[in-house]
Amino acid sequence: MVTRRAFIGILGTSAVVVAAGGVALSQVDQMPPQAVEAWNGPAPNLRDPRVRALSYALLAPNPHNRQPWIADLREANAITFFCDRTRLLPETDPYSRQITIGCGAFLELLRMAAAEQGYRAEIVAFPSGDWPAGAVGDQPICRVVFVADPSVVRDPLFAQVLKRRTNRATYDDLPVTAADADGLHGAVADLPVTFGWTNAPSRMQQLRAIAKKAWDIEMGKDATYFESVRVYRITADEILRHRDGLSFHGPFFWAMNRLGLFTREKALAGDQLARRQAFDFINPELAHTPAFAWLSTAGNDRRAQLAAGAAYVRTNLKATALGLAIQPLSQALQEFPEMLPVLAEHKRAVGVAESATVQMFFRAGHASPAEPSPRRALDDIIRA
Ligand SMILES: Cc1cc2nc3c(=O)[nH]c(=O)nc-3n(C[C@H](O)[C@H](O)[C@H](O)COP(=O)(O)O)c2cc1C
Repeated sequence: MVTRRAFIGILGTSAVVVAAGGVALSQVDQMPPQAVEAWNGPAPNLRDPRVRALSYALLAPNPHNRQPWIADLREANAITFFCDRTRLLPETDPYSRQITIGCGAFLELLRMAAAEQGYRAEIVAFPSGDWPAGAVGDQPICRVVFVADPSVVRDPLFAQVLKRRTNRATYDDLPVTAADADGLHGAVADLPVTFGWTNAPSRMQQLRAIAKKAWDIEMGKDATYFESVRVYRITADEILRHRDGLSFHGPFFWAMNRLGLFTREKALAGDQLARRQAFDFINPELAHTPAFAWLSTAGNDRRAQLAAGAAYVRTNLKATALGLAIQPLSQALQEFPEMLPVLAEHKRAVGVAESATVQMFFRAGHASPAEPSPRRALDDIIRA
């Protein structure tokens, strides 16, 4: 959920109370339980191990929570996994690199959930050939065969799957230590990715400035800004209707919405209040970030991006186990033309070779737990 702090000062609490019409404020516009029911794990009556594994996989972190996933179950004991081309982000993610990372995270959770049930997930990437260069094709990302194997190794990180969150809060002043970073690094040691991090004040300052510059470029360009606005889900009603995208709910946003001050239609029409607030969202986050970390790969083909997704979700799960909060800040990594100079500057600042690719860049710290984000119904991603 996007927090309300960026809007504070625009509208006093009294207006919220008036709009709420006397209903207990804390009860107004809560996250609809049905939108987050996936975080309770699969229903006990689900018997098919593939479907049970998919119930966990769809909890993967993914850009703008678009959930671009299709799982075809028509072949016995196998899942053919496609990327849903109606759920891409062509402006902020022109080559669908980030979308592919989300698919890699999905596959890693699928693999872990299969193992948990005593199945080895045999994953063959792009069994019908690669996608066209730089695009998402009709070809499946992979075919996953579930092979019963009592010796399959369970992953200790699986215990964190239902607890994992993206946490956009302001983080406490508690430091992220070298031991924390070692823990995160250890979670990706078997994958073809390189882990980096810093908590050094001068470097933090430099990276904060780059992240802010990148944010302003994304918010300042109409095409990229409106791409996000189109997936704003404002109030519990909209969240429940879509169960994806960027959630805004609670008494404050509800009142802003009911008073007509913050609606998707208005934001899409170019409302300056919404735009100014979007520019400011990142400021409190950056001001309260004790550490940054990143994952890079030597190449940047689809397999590298899938590996980066596996690595990122493992990092997020390990962070959960360590009591750390993390949040990606992807703007500086985006490949649309206006961002390219900042992308190069960011790569130099994190010390990654020009020929390599920074796949994920994220803040890390300690914070109160974040609420779960919505997920579409399992049936919506299954083709049976
Ligand atoms: C490739 C990728 C890029 C992301 N970039 C951002 C980002 O720039 N800012 C942010 O707040 N979250 C970012 N996220 C996190 C997603 O928004 C988040 O995973 C999604 O909303 C679902 O929420 P959850 O992780 O709490 O389940 C990114 C996630 C992925 C996989």
